[in-house]
Order: sequence, then structure tokens, then C-alpha cells
Amino acid sequence: MLAFLATFGLCFGAVAGRVHPHLAASLRALLLPRAGRAADQRHRAEPAQPGLHAVYTDETLITKVVQVQFRPPLTPGSYPMYTCSSTAPVLMLTMLETLDVTDGCRVLEIGTGTGYNAALLCERLGSEYVTSVDIDPELIELATERLAANGYTPTLAAVDGSGGYPPGAPYDRIIATCGVLAIPPAWLEQAAPSAVIVVDVRGKIGGTLARLTVNHDGVATGRFLLRWASFMSLRHTLEVQPPAPRPHYDEPVYSVSAVDPKLLRYDGKFGFVAQWYLPDVTWGPASAEGEFGLQLYAPDGSRALARRSPTGPGWQVTQYGPRRLWDRVEEAHEFWQQAGRPSYDRFGITASTAEQYVWYDHPESEHRWPLPTPIQTLS
Ligand SMILES: C[S@@+](CC[C@H](N)C(=O)[O-])C[C@H]1O[C@@H](n2cnc3c(N)ncnc32)[C@H](O)[C@@H]1O
Repeated sequence: MLAFLATFGLCFGAVAGRVHPHLAASLRALLLPRAGRAADQRHRAEPAQPGLHAVYTDETLITKVVQVQFRPPLTPGSYPMYTCSSTAPVLMLTMLETLDVTDGCRVLEIGTGTGYNAALLCERLGSEYVTSVDIDPELIELATERLAANGYTPTLAAVDGSGGYPPGAPYDRIIATCGVLAIPPAWLEQAAPSAVIVVDVRGKIGGTLARLTVNHDGVATGRFLLRWASFMSLRHTLEVQPPAPRPHYDEPVYSVSAVDPKLLRYDGKFGFVAQWYLPDVTWGPASAEGEFGLQLYAPDGSRALARRSPTGPGWQVTQYGPRRLWDRVEEAHEFWQQAGRPSYDRFGITASTAEQYVWYDHPESEHRWPLPTPIQTLS
């Protein structure tokens, strides 16, 4: 509890300075139904009852787990997947500070979850200024009950937040606690002039939080934040879909690469850059005989496998399908090295309902990467 209060107390500003740390700490305990540390949840069908020691830490806690069935031809079975978590409180506060709410701001939150963040917003602005949506009706029902029991009555709705929430528009601030591959056009359409959007823009390889301002012409632009953060991806269905079967190509192309696949997995800054070169790509492990290896998959069946070369220096790469995914990793690596391994805040996004792209250093830069539109999700 003391550690929580100390970290929370450090986040003075538009929200933390107006919400007493004791209240912020006890709200988390009151709003979390069941929650557990990610490491303890791995083999559980549902989250454990939260111990108070876990709630009063600055840790993300898992609050909902579902079992996802494998699709044929895989052997029948299932695997657990987290569909809701209570974000680490200090990250939540950093996002709220970045959102820069002022008196009278109308806020839309996408990803109600436990309602903790909605409660902080209500405390700061008043419930009448807060709208929060979640795709999961069960979460909305629980959050409605618990928020009301604590005196908060924001507008809550069980909808796919990629469509925003038209009845409450226009919004001065939009905050999403689930990650998106690109800014949903509905958010731009429902944003008031000069509105601020704070969201984790990411795919399966990388990404982090961005803060965009919506101009009078409806085009939003802004930079990524310096700090790294990662949220679960926005999904368009209540049911979690297992990965779709992918076409199989069996004419491999072999090469040797100087790019260490571990960089993609473990270096957040490289993963961030590589994401813009591989927007629809997912990675998976391919380790063998104690050596780290990595596979990349795209929905069109393109695949790349990179493992330590058994015969010499470098990594042996095997590529299949219509696109050479590892070639894109090498292009990303070349850019990243030449740019001096830049921090996240050197990059930004420009987003309109017609076109979206990530840029390096400034919106007119020659280094630009288109984001996928219309909005897709990755399985
Ligand atoms: C990290 S949790 C949110 C944490 C929450 N802000 C809190 O304070 O507890 C992410 C949430 O996003 C929700 N979500 C995922 N896809 C969504 C969508 N399309 N629309 C609205 N909510 C969505 C999930 O159901 C989940 O509750």
C-alpha cells in the first residue's frame, strides 16, 4: 500500500493532483472482482481472488481469462487467453496525464474493463462527462454495479468501441486501453475540434502509446510517447477467435542473415520499427536444440523462419509464400541502424479517415509507413 501511494503520489498533475492517492488505491481494491498476476494465471481457467497485496501494487493484474478452442486440423484442445486486465495504475495515470483533461471535457474511454480508469475520470470530471464502452457485456454489467456502489454513474455501453459511441459525441478526449493497428475512423468522426486521442498503436510485433490532436479538418496528428507500453489488442467479436488456418506454400527460399532474430522479440525499439514494415505479421517461437529461433506469419500464408546457422556466422533464413517477410526485417534493421536506434518519440502518426501513416521525425518526412485501412485486427 505504501509503495502504491508513493508511486501514485509522484504522478501529480491534471488527474493525480485532483484524486487523492488513498482514494485511487482503495478504488482499485473495490473495483477489481477477481484478479491475479499474469505469472500466476498461466494455467488457471479463471483469475484468482485478488490478494490485497497484489491490488496495492503498481502491477497489471489479469481480471478475465477465456479458453480458446483450437481449430481443425489441430488436435482438439484449448488454450487460455486473457481478455481483460487491470492496467498498472501508474501507467493508467501517465495516460490520463497525457490525455490532459480539463474541467468540462467530454471523455470517451474504449475498454471499460474493471471500471477503474472510468472511476478516476469520474472523480476528476464528474460522471456526466464520462462515457466508457467495452465489447464484453459481462464486464459492463459488473463495472456498472461496482461504479454505482461507489457513487459513479458514467454512461457505460457494451459495444465494439472501434465504432466509438455516437450518442455521446462529440468528444474532447478519447482514450483507449486496448491496442489498435490504426486509428478507427469513427473516433476521428466523433472527435471535437482540437480533441486529444491517447491510444496504444500496435500490432503483434511492436508499438506503443501515441498522443494525437485532431485538427479542424478532422485529420489527427501527433507523436508516440517516450515510454513503452503494451495493451491487449482491440477485438471485433466477443468470442476470441483462434488463428485462422493459413495457406501453405512449400517452395522455400533460403538465405543467410546478419540480423539476430532475438532483436525482434526482445528489443522493444527495434520491434517498434519492424512493426511498420510488417503491419499484418505475427511472430511465433521456433527454437531448436537450445538455440533461439523465430517464425513470422502473414495472413496470406507468407512465412519466414530464422535460426542460428549451423554452418557459419549469421542466421539461416527460410522464406515461403508470396512475400519475403525476412527481407522486410532486414530493411527495418538497416533503417534502425542508420537512424541511430531512435527512441519511440522520434516517430509520429498522421491519421485521416482516408489514409494513415507513421512518420519519422516530422509528418513530411520521406520515411513514412502506411498503416492498414480499413481497420483490421490480427488473429
Ligand atoms: C486492458 S483492459 C481495460 C482496462 C480498464 N481500462 C481498467 O481500468 O480496468 C482492455 C479492455 O478492452 C476491451 N476491449 C477489447 N476490444 C474492445 C472493443 N472492440 N471495444 C471495446 N472494448 C474492447 C476488453 O474487453 C478489455 O476489457
